[in-house]
Amino acid sequence: MIYADAVVTNISQLVTCAGEKPKTKNDMREAGLVEKAWLAALNGRIVFMGKEKDFKANVSLTRKARVIDASGLVGLPGFIDCHTHLPFAGDRAKEFSLRLAGYTYLQLAELGLGIQTTVEATRAIPAPELEDICLKRLETMLLNGATTIEAKSGYGLNREDELKQLRVLKNLARRQPVSIVPTFMGAHEIPPEFKSDHSSYIKLLKEELMPEIKASNLAEFFDIFCEPTVFNLDETRELAIQAIKLGYKLKIHTDEFVPIGGTELAVELGARSVEHLLNITPAGIEKLAGSRTAAILLPGVSFFLMTDKKAPARELIDCGTIVALASDFNPGSSNLFSMLFVLQLGVFTLKMTIEEALNACTINAAYALDRQDEAGSIEPGKSFDLILCDLPSYLHLAYELGKNPIKTVIKQGKVVVEQGCIKE
Ligand code: NIG
Ligand code: FE
Repeated sequence: MIYADAVVTNISQLVTCAGEKPKTKNDMREAGLVEKAWLAALNGRIVFMGKEKDFKANVSLTRKARVIDASGLVGLPGFIDCHTHLPFAGDRAKEFSLRLAGYTYLQLAELGLGIQTTVEATRAIPAPELEDICLKRLETMLLNGATTIEAKSGYGLNREDELKQLRVLKNLARRQPVSIVPTFMGAHEIPPEFKSDHSSYIKLLKEELMPEIKASNLAEFFDIFCEPTVFNLDETRELAIQAIKLGYKLKIHTDEFVPIGGTELAVELGARSVEHLLNITPAGIEKLAGSRTAAILLPGVSFFLMTDKKAPARELIDCGTIVALASDFNPGSSNLFSMLFVLQLGVFTLKMTIEEALNACTINAAYALDRQDEAGSIEPGKSFDLILCDLPSYLHLAYELGKNPIKTVIKQGKVVVEQGCIKE
């Protein structure tokens, strides 16, 4: 007999994303659909997924078990936003309006706007205030179905303020339900103090900040912005090798504005993921295909920067790359909170099928964070992280735009969103 303390009955369609983890090629077209599904959990872990008949034959409910009737609702795994820059202060609405007036993102960066503005604001804000701002952002992400996110530092760019960002993330992990996977991204930009002396900043990262942050267990991943105007290929390699030596898992932002070959380097170094890829070369695509490095595509960036340049999702999927989707939530190039919208952008702008986009926002995103055994699909043994949507079928996830159909969110077995509102 299987014991359960929570059960969701009669889910009209359950998208499980179960099976291979991660999924590639044709497997990405399988959403693991179960009609009229029953789901049971014990202590926040899924213990049963199947039909009513099997549930009744095999599952016994504890005395205080919670029963949720999901008739007429579509269920899916909680979304995993595997690339965000959550802990920053301020906004860049003014810069946004300048872009609308014709300036490009890179021109504004050259004028000292861009990331630099956010670095100043993030350095200036006290930690408790930053934490409260991030708490509100996390609530919005949760209402939009994210139950796990990755979050990068990288707007402090000095010891004190990088630590501040990462400590804020640690506190937030205790204060609210969304799981946070922390990434140290001291290599997001060259700080103004080191503009003409990259090597001293790299030395500071390698010899002081990277070891200290690793030793204090404040970050699991290390990420580098590999672009000719930020960290070039040699600098990226130097930082990446040190990251691996210290025990970080590796992510690289690259081939975003200029095809620099960062993808090839990422695969060569065994990075867990390589991110952006608007300008990935055929050689980069070839290298990624069949590798264990996931490609995290961020369609919100092309949308938000209003560029026709898109990541070649179709080519990447068709040649066997592990493709995930994420928001890149940040104030400059993607001020985007909703994974549902990311899924829709994957379909509408990257020409992914709905099933591919679903797998890219769940199980493949979990893989990109090394959480494929914990989250990203509805299967016994995994964390009970579920979204229930008021939709006629899962196809409507991309077919209906501009509304939030997410009524219920369950995180580790607890109902955290009810009737579309955060449950206090
Ligand atoms: O991932 N590409 C680098 N960093 C961010 C943008 C940061 C910003 O503009 O503040 C990104 O898009
Ligand atoms: Fe980013």
